[in-house]
Parts: sequence; C-alpha cells; structure tokens
Amino acid sequence: MPHLRAFWRRLPTGFLGLLALLLLLSGCGAEQYPQTTLVPRAEFAARVDELFRITVWLALVVFVVVEGALLYTIFRFKGSPDDPEPEQTHGNVKVELIWTIIPAVVLAMVAVPTIRTIIETAEVPTTSPDGQPPLKVEVIGHQWWWEIRYPELGITTSGDWHVPQGRTVDLRMKSVDVVHSFWVPQFAGKRDVFPNRETRIWFTPEVTGEFPGACAEFCGTQHARMAFYLLVDSPQDFDAWVARRLADSTSVGFAAPDSVTLAAMDPVTRTGEDLFRSKGCVGCHTLAAKGGLVGLTGPNLSGIGTRTRLAGGWLPNTDENLAKWIQDPQQFKHGVTMRPKGNAEPEITDAEAQALVAYLRTKR
Ligand code: CUA
Repeated sequence: MPHLRAFWRRLPTGFLGLLALLLLLSGCGAEQYPQTTLVPRAEFAARVDELFRITVWLALVVFVVVEGALLYTIFRFKGSPDDPEPEQTHGNVKVELIWTIIPAVVLAMVAVPTIRTIIETAEVPTTSPDGQPPLKVEVIGHQWWWEIRYPELGITTSGDWHVPQGRTVDLRMKSVDVVHSFWVPQFAGKRDVFPNRETRIWFTPEVTGEFPGACAEFCGTQHARMAFYLLVDSPQDFDAWVARRLADSTSVGFAAPDSVTLAAMDPVTRTGEDLFRSKGCVGCHTLAAKGGLVGLTGPNLSGIGTRTRLAGGWLPNTDENLAKWIQDPQQFKHGVTMRPKGNAEPEITDAEAQALVAYLRTKR
C-alpha cells in the first residue's frame, strides 16, 4: 500500500513538529502571568479550575478516540480510482444507538460537576475558613475606575484595595453608570455589575500578594484602563492597613489642616496642600477613607502616596506619572472626567504639579 508508506515517511516530520510544539508550550509557565486563570489562588477559582480540568480531559479523550477512528478509517479503507462502487447501506440501529448514548453519557459527565459547581458557588459561605464571618465589601463600578467600600469598617478606597488572607470576602456589586464586569482572574469568575441591581460574588484568598483585576465588559472608550489591584495581606498587615485608613480620615477632609499640622509641613508640601484645595481637587476627591462613604464624583484618594497604581489601576504610581496625570489626564486616558491641561496656559504648572505630588506622597 503506497499511501501507508508515504504516511510512515512523513511521520518523523510530524513527530518533530509535535515535539517542538511541546517545547514551546513548556515555556508558558503560568506562574509568570498574573492574569492567568490556570493558577487559582482562592477557593472559588479552585472549584472553577477543577471543572475546567475535568472538561479538558474528557474533551481530550473524545478527540483522541474520534480522530483516531477517523484516521484509521481513512487509511484502512482508502480506495483507488479503479475500485468498484462500494456497497450502499441505509440506517444501522446499533451504530445509531451507540453514537447517541456515548455523547449523552459524556455530556452527563460534564453537566453533573458543572451544575454542582454553579450551586456551590452561588451561595456565599456564612463563615470563613478562619471561623470569622465573611468580610463584606461593596464594589461600585464607575466609568472607568472601581470604588471599594468596607461597610463594617466604615472606609472607602479605589484602585488598590486590601483583603486579609484566609478570610472569605463577600462582594456586593453595583454600577453608577453602564454595565461593567468585575474580574480577578486568579480568584473567581467574571461577574457583571449593573446600575439597577446588585450582583454578588465571593472568594477566599489563599495566599498573600498582589493580584491584578479588571473590567471584563466593554464599557466605553477607556474600558481597557479600568483595572485595579487586589492586595492580599496577612491578617496583621490588613489590620494595620485599616488602622492607617482610619487614622488619616481624621487629619484631612475638606477643611484646612490645623495649625500644628501646617507648621510641621515643609514649604513645598504646604504649597501642595493649598493647591489641592485652590485648584479644585477637593471638589471631586477626598483624601479621607472614612468620610468617603458620603460618595464623591472622583476616586477616593486615601493613602494615595503608597498605592501601587494610579488612574484606574494601570499607571504605576511614580512621582513622574502622578505629576503628568495631574497636569494632563486626557493625554493618558482620553475621555475621563478629570481634565486640567488648560488652553494657552497650563492649568497646573510643572512647579505646582511637583508641589501636589509632594503633598500627596505624605498620604500613606
Ligand atoms: Cu468597565 Cu469595562
């Protein structure tokens, strides 16, 4: 059979190709990709991952059996142009039963764990693995940033937010404008966030670290820049973060700092503090995590001096970026509500931006 000989001659090429592909794939160490869903870091994501793996293995078995049968048939029964017309048959009850029952069984093997996972993850657990009740968090989607409130602690933040390791987080989510979708790939599935109803999701972070999250539903021109960073702290570090948020709430709100605080400031920082009010920053932003529950139009800036990112969780929080963002936010994120720049003269000069940065860096 000449075609079989051709097949065996071509095999080494195919085999080498497969080997090269495997080598290439082995380079995809999931650990170095923080947005991967293949390395679950929380209980919710672990259950979804388990489901994914069951489905992939079943699909692989189906693929190998079907393609194997196909290849076998192709090579085993290959005809040549001068062969007589093969025997024609219509209907075969036995074969039809087999190819109906086997897929039904395979589908049931996928459906049972899927439905079980849906039911298990729909209910927010009533206690955390650490024995405490879940930490309640309110998530509010805005075009294009995330507001995060901790109603039991009475604090608000945006962009970077913290949770303690090992404690279940119970998220209640809404939007103030269009439909967004909340997603921390390593923690849980995506969940849409609507303006007119509350959606919920939960997860239990298993490890400490910094995990990126994003909006996963197109919500306008800057949808791609609607990110956030979830920082999982040890319980002690989380308590320390909360204590800092509560402490800074009392020092700065809308009113000018008291004379003692003012006297302790260096001249540049003091200029920055003055500019923060005179340039109208306070109209949209508060630096107080506590008063932030009142809700302002712009992101809450509590602890902005030490946050990892700016501008909806995507711009690294360096002095240079912060100054540029303050002077010309439209350059980075066209269409955002914040828009200094100015026409002929810049609204905020380089020196003023430096002073504002110096002041904001003191908010830790
Ligand atoms: Cu919000 Cu996309």
